[in-house]
Amino acid sequence: MLNCSSPLKMTSRLLWVAFKLAALTLSVTLSLQPEQQKVLLVSFDGFRWDYLYRVPTPHFHYVMKSGVHVKQVTNIFITKTYPNHYTLVTGLFAENHGIVANDMFDPILNKSFSLEDMNIYDSEFWEDAIPIWITNQRAGRASGAAMWPGSDVKIHESFPTHYMLYNESVSFEDRVAKIIEWFTAKEPIHLGLLYWEDPDDMGHRLGPDSPLMGPVISDIDNKLGYLIQRLKEAKLWDTLNLIITSDHGMTQCSEEKVIELDQYLDKDHYILIDQSPVAAILPKEGKFDEVYEALAHAHPNLTVYKKEEIPERWHYKYNNRIQPIIAVADEGWSILQNKSADFMLGNHGYDNALAEMHPIFLAHGPAFRKNFTKAAMNSTDLYPLLCHLLGIPALPHNGSLSSVQDLLSSPATRPAPHTPRLHGGVRPGEHEQEEPYAYFIGVSLGSILVVVFLIVFVKHLIPSQIPTLPDMQAEIAQPLLQA
Ligand SMILES: *[C@@H]1O[C@H](CO)[C@@H](O)[C@H](O)[C@H]1NC(C)=O
Ligand SMILES: *[C@@H]1O[C@H](CO)[C@@H](O)[C@H](O)[C@H]1NC(C)=O
Ligand SMILES: *[C@@H]1O[C@H](CO)[C@@H](O)[C@H](O)[C@H]1NC(C)=O
Ligand SMILES: *[C@@H]1O[C@H](CO)[C@@H](O)[C@H](O)[C@H]1NC(C)=O
Ligand SMILES: *[C@@H]1O[C@H](CO)[C@@H](O)[C@H](O)[C@H]1NC(C)=O
Ligand SMILES: *[C@@H]1O[C@H](CO)[C@@H](O)[C@H](O)[C@H]1NC(C)=O
Ligand SMILES: *[C@@H]1O[C@H](CO)[C@@H](O)[C@H](O)[C@H]1NC(C)=O
Ligand SMILES: [Zn+2]
Repeated sequence: MLNCSSPLKMTSRLLWVAFKLAALTLSVTLSLQPEQQKVLLVSFDGFRWDYLYRVPTPHFHYVMKSGVHVKQVTNIFITKTYPNHYTLVTGLFAENHGIVANDMFDPILNKSFSLEDMNIYDSEFWEDAIPIWITNQRAGRASGAAMWPGSDVKIHESFPTHYMLYNESVSFEDRVAKIIEWFTAKEPIHLGLLYWEDPDDMGHRLGPDSPLMGPVISDIDNKLGYLIQRLKEAKLWDTLNLIITSDHGMTQCSEEKVIELDQYLDKDHYILIDQSPVAAILPKEGKFDEVYEALAHAHPNLTVYKKEEIPERWHYKYNNRIQPIIAVADEGWSILQNKSADFMLGNHGYDNALAEMHPIFLAHGPAFRKNFTKAAMNSTDLYPLLCHLLGIPALPHNGSLSSVQDLLSSPATRPAPHTPRLHGGVRPGEHEQEEPYAYFIGVSLGSILVVVFLIVFVKHLIPSQIPTLPDMQAEIAQPLLQA
């Protein structure tokens, strides 16, 4: 029971409660500020959305239960590794970020880019965009990348604060060790990026329908378990926002479904820049019509486009590195120059509308809801989400923060720096929901309560404490009375 015998005591109690309330309001508001939030983005290459249900994946399901899960993520065309990894860190379509394939030729630069030959270190191919690790660093924070595609390339004169030179032989455990080291350093990173080559490698070799893929998926689940354990040991699990995603899925191919270009085209009439399942064809001087006509109706499972006819929905047209003719195979079909060329039992790169091309998306951490499932998102939406979590300005992009806002445990609150709408890339309505109303109301309310408390406290103190605190009264009352 409250002892109300003394009015002085009661006033003190009320004041104490008021002070507590004020302090609480302020601290809750300040904790909403995403500036303190750290993010670890993990990509398991070629992890198809439904691999989660192929075999027991207890660690993935643990993240889903204690975090969020998006069932269908529409990635970008072409559904290949480098184009999609660059989209995850820029929010741009391939035609805008410039990494339009794993194998490219730029006729203006007169240069080639090839993942096959690891000839990917030419900065000029990457500089149509600015990846998030650079923006994070420009905001004064550190970034760390463990083998993320492109993270060991000098882009706009910079590298991530910490990074590893690409070497596929470096174990998952060693990559995780680096990430933990960077997050727990004296000057810790705010953004971590971690990449692993499987289940893509094995998916290509075995084909996704192979029963041998079961153990491959179990192994990835164990790797996730290892990462979670290390994050817990480092006391990062509850404070870090962990996002687990992938670049694309995988579909089963078959030697009965091969489109052999040599059957339709004269080898001397064109250069094959990229092969399968989207052939990028550069006809030689004066051979455009011949090549196009020969290929246009060659095979029922091959759709051939002149560059200007490429469907808008792919956002795959307005870039020099997209060749004059592209030929897109139907799902499960392979394009080969001849029968002796390399054939793979699993592949990706097909139409991004196909479910089998879709990756996974899971997230866990203070910013995310718990046990929440969302039906669908676009992979371009990850970038504004990352910028929001890091509290950094998003550069012009093709995603939408409002589309993924429902994944967050509290709505976007921070006074997000406004991005100039350069080419109309950011949709109308994009900035509105980032308005900092809640944040300002919280700070204002907290501050007003603290000020009111101080005024009441001082007023209360002056008459009531005079006899007991003569010195203090002398010190604080004098200037107040004179003022
Ligand atoms: C393009 O580069 C090749 C060598 O890689 C060279 O032979 C050719 O002349 C160059 N073409 C132009 C137009 O500069
Ligand atoms: C790649 O990593 C492996 C395993 O750590 C190491 O043995 C090898 O020397 C590295 N290769 C290069 C080129 O650094
Ligand atoms: C391949 O073409 C045939 C004939 O047009 C069609 O029936 C089949 O559905 C196509 N395959 C795919 C995977 O679209
Ligand atoms: C078959 O195609 C590969 C490239 O895809 C090429 O290197 C090889 O020379 C071709 N073989 C023949 C006999 O044309
Ligand atoms: C998670 O959500 C599902 C359905 O929304 C519900 O059935 C389940 O009990 C929840 N699990 C936990 C641990 O809250
Ligand atoms: C993905 O983007 C397209 C085009 O901007 C939009 O129409 C669609 O609603 C988005 N999908 C989701 C699930 O947000
Ligand atoms: C994608 O974003 C870029 C950069 O803002 C913009 O130039 C481009 O027009 C956008 N594409 C679409 C289809 O909105
Ligand atoms: Zn990949």
